[in-house]
This record gives sequence, C-alpha cells and structure tokens, in this order.
Amino acid sequence: MISSKINNFLNGNPKIPGDKSISHRSIIIPSISNGVCEIKNYLKSDDVLNTLDAFKSMGVKVVETENKLIINGNGLNSLKRPNKEIYLGNSGTSARLLAGLLSSQNFQSILTGDDSLSSRPMKRIVDPLIKMNAEIISNNDKMPLIIKGRELSNRDIDIKIPSAQIKSGVILAALNTKGITKIVEHNVTRDHTEIMLDAFEADIKITNQNSLKMIEINGKKELNSKNIEVPSDLSSSAFFIVATLINNKSKILLKNINVNPTRNGILLALEKMGAKISYHNKRFLNNELVNDIEVISSDLIGCELDEDIAKLMIDEYPILSIAACFAKSPSIFRGLSELRVKESDRLNLIKVNLLKCGVNCKVIGDDLYIFPEKEYKIKDKFIQTDFDHRIAMAFAVMGSKIGPLEIRDSNSINTSFPGFSNEFNKIGGNIS
Ligand code: S3P
Repeated sequence: MISSKINNFLNGNPKIPGDKSISHRSIIIPSISNGVCEIKNYLKSDDVLNTLDAFKSMGVKVVETENKLIINGNGLNSLKRPNKEIYLGNSGTSARLLAGLLSSQNFQSILTGDDSLSSRPMKRIVDPLIKMNAEIISNNDKMPLIIKGRELSNRDIDIKIPSAQIKSGVILAALNTKGITKIVEHNVTRDHTEIMLDAFEADIKITNQNSLKMIEINGKKELNSKNIEVPSDLSSSAFFIVATLINNKSKILLKNINVNPTRNGILLALEKMGAKISYHNKRFLNNELVNDIEVISSDLIGCELDEDIAKLMIDEYPILSIAACFAKSPSIFRGLSELRVKESDRLNLIKVNLLKCGVNCKVIGDDLYIFPEKEYKIKDKFIQTDFDHRIAMAFAVMGSKIGPLEIRDSNSINTSFPGFSNEFNKIGGNIS
C-alpha cells in the first residue's frame, strides 16, 4: 500500500466499522446464553470472523444476513468439542478470552494462531486459570494452548497486569465455575465484558475500593440473551481524527462512536494537545456510551502523558505518535511496556518508522520522546509493520502529510478495518 501526501484537505463523514472488542464479546457471550441474539453493526474483520468460526466449530447455530448476525444460544454448557484445532489468526483478544471460557467447559480444545499471535505471551492468562485449577498445556507459555476443560474451583484472583483480555478470560471461566470467584483488578481496563454480562443477567457484582476494582461472579447462573447493536470503534476512528487534525482546512464528523470512559484516553490526550474536537448526540447503546464526534484541523502542542493514561488508550499510541510529530513542542509518553507485547513490538516499530520518516525521536526505558520539526525529509520510504494493522494505518496517515510512504504487509489492516483505504480516500485521502 502506498500513501501519498494529500493535495487538498479531508472532509466528510467517514463510516467507522463496529467496535472490535464489543464485536468479539457479542459473539462469545450470546453463544453461551439462552435465547436468540440479533447483532447489528458487528465488525466483519478477520479477527472477529475467527472468533465467529470458533463458535461455529463448537456447534453454535449462527445465521448471517447482509447486515445482521443471529446467534442461537443454548446455555453455559451447550458448546460441543470442536473436531479440529481452533485457529484464531492474529487475534489476542480471541485467544485470551477463549482460553478462559474453554477452561471450564467439559471437553478438550486446542487454540492456535498465526506467527504473531504464536509469539505473544500467554502465561498472563494461563497462570490465573491454573490457580482456578485449570489444566492447560502451552508451548513455553506461548500458543498453541491445549486446554483440557474441566470443573474449576472458585478462587480469589489478583490481576496486576493492566489487561482487559486477562480480566475477561478469568470472568468467562468463572461463569461456569461453582461459587463466587473474586477478581481484584489493580488497573482500569476496558469494561465491555462486565457491561454486557450485566445486561445478560449474569450474577456479577462490581465494587470499587480506593484504586482497586472488585468483580464478584457467582458462577453456574444461566445467562439470558439480548439483542445487540455494536457502536462504532473509537480505536479505528482515531486514525481519521488525527489525519483531520494534522491536515489543514479539514473537517470530519464521525457518527455513533463508542466513548466508554475506560477507553477514551486518546480523546483526553488529543484535547490536552489542543485538538478541536466536539461531541454531539450523547446517548447509551446497550449500556455503552456513544457520541457523534466532530473534528477540525488544529494547531497542536506537545504533551507529557504518564503511565495511568496508557491503560485508557493502549492501542492508540501509534497514531498519537503521528499527531505528536506535527505539534509545536516535544512530547513524552511514559510507561509503555505493554506496547511491546501487542501484535508487534509497537514501541520499537513506532521509533524505527518515525526515524525512517526523518523524525527525531528516542525510546528510553519504556518512555517515548518525540521532537517535532516543521519539515521532514524522508530517509527511507519503506515502512516496516511486522504485519501489525495499527502500525500500518498510523503510517498511512503519516503518508497523507509527508508521503509517499510505502507500507509493507498492509493487508494486516483487514484484521480490524477492512474498508480503511476506501473510507480514507472518500474523504480526500490518497492511498493506492
Ligand atoms: C482488548 C484489550 C486490549 C487491547 C486489544 C483489545 C480487548 O488488550 O489492546 O486490542 O478486547 O479486551 P490487553 O487487554 O492485552 O491490554
């Protein structure tokens, strides 16, 4: 994919697809609930379709129409042993959530993934599940995972790594485990699982004590399905938001965007940098907060962000770094260790590719420093993505300002945003 400097400006109402995190949960939770669930605006991307295939292979009845997915769920113990390995492609969310769910099913399953997923850490989800008496064999704490599903024991589980995937995996294991599993979360992470389970009438109780969040799940309580309309994805919106901010005379309106406060760090950070963003039509969709978001080109200033905000916007650092390149002053983003274990070592790839673009930046420890300049001289136009969708899209946005840049392995974008280039070009972008 080649992204070139745009001649003019960006303008319009790009259509942002359904939220990835909520789409995964919209398949997983109805599949183990009772009743029929109609899901609208779900994300039809590779990651989510891998989750869908996993449940089809475990006997879940699914009807797919042009704009809806219909899932017929038959309860907590209705899944069947799949007759082959479950392949999850690039999707860390599917891997961690399914590891939890399948640990407390009464059959064996094997989870596999692509090269990137097979190199990502699984000990973080395997360890708390083993504490609940799960039997999981891994390949040196990596995929494939052989899960010998069985009756688990309710335990108190402390989650210190900031990860919604670990939390959600343990919650899903606890749903089919007798007694109360208590989860103590030490960091704020996205709470889509808790919100959806509450709507599906799970026996889930949430309390906050100082900076800790307590989640208590009384297992073996059957869930009741509800219809779901998936809001549009803030993480995917962020590429359009930043592209608009950094290109002159640009203006866009994004509709129906999920702005769940456990996920909205990118908006807070950009506002701190002087971004002109306004919100309209605030409402709730299946208990998730949504807004329409209007963005206009802005003169940005640099900012210093600490580790706490990283938990509210971990997926957005690649594109935030691009915004920082066009600010008037330097930026420092601190505490980014989790960025090293995403679909790629994102912290390293942000640095490597910004240097290729001629941007003065450095990484010290887990902190990223960006020193913007008025003009950039591209040193090497070939962007290395290591098959990471968010690195590819972030540098496509960079290309719209300083390009042409040639983004390697850009078909990874299909994991989260199949129509990205089309939507970008519709509002004035220049991607071929
Ligand atoms: C996700 C959680 C985050 C995020 C990922 C989606 C989820 O990962 O990076 O894109 O849907 O729960 P971690 O939980 O590993 O931080």
